[in-house]
Amino acid sequence: MSRSRLLGAAVGAATVLAVAAPASAGGPAVGSPGLGDPYFPLAGNGGYDVRHYSLDLDYVRAGNQLDGTTTILATATQDLRRFDLDLRGFTITGVTVNLLPAAFQRDGQELIITPRVPVRRGKPFTVKVRYHGEPTEVIDPDGSSEGWVTTADGAFVVNEPQGSPGWYAANDNPRDKATYDMAITVPKGITAIGNGRLLSRRDHGGRTTWRWYEDSPMAPYLATATNGVFELRVSKVGKIPLYHAVDPVEAPNGAFDRLAAEAEVIRFFSGLWGPYPFSSGGGVVDHAPEVGYALESQTKSQYDNTPDPSTVVHEIAHQWFGNSVSLTVWPDIWLNEGFATYSEWIYDERHGGPTAQQSFDQVYARPPTNSIWTRPPANVGGPAFLFTGTVYDRGAATLQALRVKVGDRTFFRIMRDWYARNRDGNVTTADFIRLAEKRSGTQLDAFFDVWLYQPVKPTTW
Ligand code: ARG
Ligand code: ZN
Repeated sequence: MSRSRLLGAAVGAATVLAVAAPASAGGPAVGSPGLGDPYFPLAGNGGYDVRHYSLDLDYVRAGNQLDGTTTILATATQDLRRFDLDLRGFTITGVTVNLLPAAFQRDGQELIITPRVPVRRGKPFTVKVRYHGEPTEVIDPDGSSEGWVTTADGAFVVNEPQGSPGWYAANDNPRDKATYDMAITVPKGITAIGNGRLLSRRDHGGRTTWRWYEDSPMAPYLATATNGVFELRVSKVGKIPLYHAVDPVEAPNGAFDRLAAEAEVIRFFSGLWGPYPFSSGGGVVDHAPEVGYALESQTKSQYDNTPDPSTVVHEIAHQWFGNSVSLTVWPDIWLNEGFATYSEWIYDERHGGPTAQQSFDQVYARPPTNSIWTRPPANVGGPAFLFTGTVYDRGAATLQALRVKVGDRTFFRIMRDWYARNRDGNVTTADFIRLAEKRSGTQLDAFFDVWLYQPVKPTTW
């Protein structure tokens, strides 16, 4: 192993230790306030594992008032006399643990809960948090906005990497994936779009409740509840329902046609990488141009305006890479963005566009001073650089370089295996390197070191 890889491994080991050890060994059983992510140390909480979220949301855009209840079903991984959830802002009107009122305090994004009866290690338990007020828009270290981002007629709800606690109580860490059901109540005439399948839509008085259910494990940042005036169309690809919602402001820009292309893209990647991961799919085209990015929210990609065809391909590819196969720590973001970008390259290659090698050549032509070379994709240097070009372009170039090195047959076996073995799971860069070495029978440490970890343009590999 190279020096930088060793360093990476050491950081990883320290993180795991911090998670596994009770907050104070031998002392009172308190769940740690964070999971020690190198970029977002307080995101997520220790001591339990969420299995399911029930989100009950009531939202009125006029006045921007959200009335919410988050109910989680979790399993304690240690004795818990106290534990945290992540929630920003709001007035909290009550917390219960196993139906009994619990004491709580706030400290920044930490909601600190003391149940009346401590929870025993290994036991399932439920937590219900009731809150109301204006949802918090979260500003990231890179200056981008996320969370419950208000629009003219509702909200565009996207959370990568840390927007979720701005609208629901979460164990906000991608390594704690859970299933979700959502009941979103909005004024009649407003459409509310959650993850997964639409279970029902009921009018009562002047309000409508939309119920959605996502039955595959989902990282908290991939939840959505985008709402506003939308036209909703339901279609199918094979047996999988696709939900396409378009803001009428975006309809004249061809938004429905762009979304319709998802069916073919899903079929293509199902053949290329393995079966589509989820039991539903779709996309939402809102009009929220100030957001400035699209997000691959699970089963419902979120577009802040009418997307280019390549953006649709990118977000659909994330359903495999990022959503089903999820990162464990945020510094491994290239496992999401590099793989989604590489999926675009292969899509182009197989659809009469440039070959992946030509896409690689374009990236490789950038001079050594370009930030993709000075900023290595698996060590971007901090959360402010999470979504910089290197994780996309040099990340994808790394995969093309690997393909050339090990040959097509082996390369595509690695990629398909990566998905097959890690479906619904969490991974690290070290896992990918291990798999690539195993399938190719080649020592690849030096190769990955130069592509992923060194702040220089690779010249030999
Ligand atoms: N994962 C998104 C993509 O498809 C980008 C999200 C950017 N998020 C942000 N807060 N800037 O590339
Ligand atoms: Zn992406």
